[in-house]
Amino acid sequence: MSRIKIVNLLKSESPIDNVTIKGWIRTKRDSKTFSFLEINDGSCLRNIQVVVDETISNYEEIKKLTTGSAISVTGRLIASQGKGQSWEITAETVEMIHLAPESFPLQKKRHSDEFLRSIAHLRPRTNKYGAVFRIRSEMAYAVHQFFREREFRYIHTPILTGSDCEGAGEMFRVTTLGPGQTDYENDFFGKEANLTVSGQLEVEMFALSLGDVYTFGPTFRAENSNTSRHASEFWMIEPEMAFCDLSGNMDLGEEMIKFLVQFLFDNCAEDLNLFARFVDKSLMASLQNVLENKFERLLYKDAIAILEKCGENFEFPVSYGMDMQSEHERFLAEKHFKKPLIVYNFPKTIKPFYMRVNDDNETVASMDILVPRIGEIIGGSQREERLDILTARMQKTQMEKEDYWWYLESRVFGSVPHSGFGLGFERLIMMVTGITNIRDVIAFPRTPKNIDF
Ligand code: 4AD
Ligand code: MG
Repeated sequence: MSRIKIVNLLKSESPIDNVTIKGWIRTKRDSKTFSFLEINDGSCLRNIQVVVDETISNYEEIKKLTTGSAISVTGRLIASQGKGQSWEITAETVEMIHLAPESFPLQKKRHSDEFLRSIAHLRPRTNKYGAVFRIRSEMAYAVHQFFREREFRYIHTPILTGSDCEGAGEMFRVTTLGPGQTDYENDFFGKEANLTVSGQLEVEMFALSLGDVYTFGPTFRAENSNTSRHASEFWMIEPEMAFCDLSGNMDLGEEMIKFLVQFLFDNCAEDLNLFARFVDKSLMASLQNVLENKFERLLYKDAIAILEKCGENFEFPVSYGMDMQSEHERFLAEKHFKKPLIVYNFPKTIKPFYMRVNDDNETVASMDILVPRIGEIIGGSQREERLDILTARMQKTQMEKEDYWWYLESRVFGSVPHSGFGLGFERLIMMVTGITNIRDVIAFPRTPKNIDF
């Protein structure tokens, strides 16, 4: 008989004969004539209790079962006597699939996040990490639903690329050359190749063809910053809209974040509750706050003025022209406005070449969305659609115009105002779970000096 997932079994409205579940033993209690097994199959947070009595033929074998072992159980689903659970299974047959040794590291006690990182291959078998990765899966689905409902098309931009979108030189090189060799003409692609830092330049070409589009995939950055909010491999959602200015871009960012939080409330209540109880007691209030408040919108220069006057003791001193640090972003969101905010029109000197220069010739039509507990979750801009200004800015930042001939050509044939942004998917998962380290929302995180698993 094929197995039933526990998540579906627990929705049952009446007893069922002859059900089969398969899963792993979380705990086991033995009395003289019974064994009580708590089984989890990963389909939901909850376990199901299996009651095995001594009349079962392989009872001696069952008594030896350990935490972490895999079993298959066939029996009858009945209303549970015990409090806190509605259904249990009285076993008719129990088949041992695999016996885990006593050394299985996830025994009942609570383990630290640091320890669990060192066993990233087993941590999804805990309640907390099972919940993280179910929520991550649901959020990815919600992203596609959000865009599909709005007629945005999903574009698969390349992961191998020759271009540096952000111009920050933080790329991982891809090569088949031997150690020390740099003659790229003899390299696999006949020129320098890298892992992408952003799909933006490519997705812009599709906005200028299909209208509203997005890309959602892995991106790679060789930043040597070992922070709790940066990973070397992370996923980014990048929408791009033709005929759209900065204010329309901000509207989409705000709408998207709110949609994703609402989707979480509607579809992930049980897993979400674990985080609200055990990870961050203020999580629900904080997510309600995101949902219910209009995001504040303010100019970069006004944000700097607030930071200069606030009297807070920052590690990085504040001055006009600086890039905001996480401590500044969090002060604005958590302490000053006490809700998400959108900072816009940053000085052009600290922003990439593709952002549209404003009439003041000093700032660009850029925006960052900052949320409590995370800081920057979205970075975006209106794009420079005027060829002469775009090429002048590329020259200023010493970019090779020849490499970007195709990008520039989009400003020759039917160039139009367009805008987009990037939302860091891991930062979204951190926001909705209350988890404070990015390493704990990525299945197998990659950070400087760490590529185990
Ligand atoms: O602000 P960023 O660098 O913007 C871009 O890459 C643009 N090309 C996006 C666009 O306009 N299409 O990155 C966007 C977001 C950040 O706000 C942050 O949430 C996330 O990506 N991010 C990272 N997340 C984890 N680890 C890192 N190292 C990240 N760098 C950026
Ligand atoms: Mg940014």
